[in-house]
Amino acid sequence: MKTIMIHEMPDHVGETVKMGAWLANKRSSGKIAFLQLRDGSGFVQGVVVKEEVGEDMFAKAKSLTQESSLYIIGEITTDERSSFGYELQVKEIEVIHEAVDYPITPKEHGTEFLMDHRHVWLRSRKQHAIMKIRDEIIRATYEFFHMNGFVKIDPPILTGSSPEGTSELFHTKYFDEDAYLSQSGQLYMEAAAMALGKVFSFGPTFRAEKSKTRRHLIEFWMIEPEMAFVEHAESLEVQEQFVTHIVQSVLQNCPLELVRLGRDISKLEKVQAPFPRITYDDAIKFLHEKGFDDIQWGDDFGAPHETAIAEHYDKPVFIMHYPIGIKPFYMQPHPDRDDVVLCADLIAPEGYGEIIGGSERIHDYELMKQRIKEHNLDETAYEWYLDLSKYGAVPHSGFGLGLERTVAWISGAEHVRESIPFPRLLNRLYP
Ligand code: 4AD
Ligand code: MG
Repeated sequence: MKTIMIHEMPDHVGETVKMGAWLANKRSSGKIAFLQLRDGSGFVQGVVVKEEVGEDMFAKAKSLTQESSLYIIGEITTDERSSFGYELQVKEIEVIHEAVDYPITPKEHGTEFLMDHRHVWLRSRKQHAIMKIRDEIIRATYEFFHMNGFVKIDPPILTGSSPEGTSELFHTKYFDEDAYLSQSGQLYMEAAAMALGKVFSFGPTFRAEKSKTRRHLIEFWMIEPEMAFVEHAESLEVQEQFVTHIVQSVLQNCPLELVRLGRDISKLEKVQAPFPRITYDDAIKFLHEKGFDDIQWGDDFGAPHETAIAEHYDKPVFIMHYPIGIKPFYMQPHPDRDDVVLCADLIAPEGYGEIIGGSERIHDYELMKQRIKEHNLDETAYEWYLDLSKYGAVPHSGFGLGLERTVAWISGAEHVRESIPFPRLLNRLYP
């Protein structure tokens, strides 16, 4: 007899097979029991009919406890009523391990309780679907950049400098030196772009931010492409094509997961390049027209501002040319204005906020040196970085896409804590 996994069931209709599975849930009557089975690759209903399996096996099925591990033998049939489309007509059940008092029952639980049990909460249908979507976004990311001639480069995690400003750094000792956990690999990616042309990174980043919102993690994963000889406008085109590719890949390869999450697929189908572009100046005007009196030119946007702007569009929207004072030191000034820089944030629809931050980078040595000084950064830590504008400087641009915000948006999760397997949040380092 063949041993298969749930995702392979469509290829074995009519066959009797063996499966390893956990019991996610069950319900039963006097004559029939429905076992909700999961094996990591999917979820399927097992049907146990008393008349067919006999008294003993039926009694065993009825007594199974939630999350017990099993070997099951059964025949695969089609089932039009389920979104999966298949069912298992159970013939034999062997209990591998009986789970006692599994903490997450089908009833409602509070967030803190679920977060304390994240190690088992991951087994639930919703969390399983979000992790599958996360995996698909990761797969599609590598696919997109490799298809377009980018080379994957891994910047260091332990660093001696701070690309995004000094306030949000995790400090540690590096033997006798001070070191920080990377908040962005960008500066290293710029060096790599000068060596390999088009590069991208994909790794963990750390922000010691005291923000407790549905968009903030302390540890999150970022995709950071960097492109030599690419100016601001062309970078935006890469960004919208990249985001289109990951959204369309999820639609194509995760249909069951999107259904399980109850995601409104029509909203995702509209996410096709090109995306609208507005300037920061126009965004401020728009917000004033909408009655947001709390924001002035020169302020950074808060979540309600971003949401109000995003609501106006059914695609992600680029907000371009932010004031120089609220952006990091490395951004290229606007050619016609000295008060704004050549940058853009990409704001996701449906209130998920900024998913990409990017810009053209300064490639003038004197200007870069001056900006490092103005930002009170330690020049000696940036000596290597200054070398990049000393030896064959070229216009170049790059951006960073936050994986968890993107996963939360595409899967419709209400909070980024559900879009990473083991979230690190303010006040949470467990489990
Ligand atoms: O806008 P940020 O800070 O940009 C950078 O770090 C640049 N150096 C990237 C680059 O140009 N190479 O962060 C980029 C993205 C944000 O748009 C957001 O999606 C995500 O990273 N992000 C966070 N995600 C979760 N929790 C946080 N605390 C985040 N901070 C930023
Ligand atoms: Mg940003």
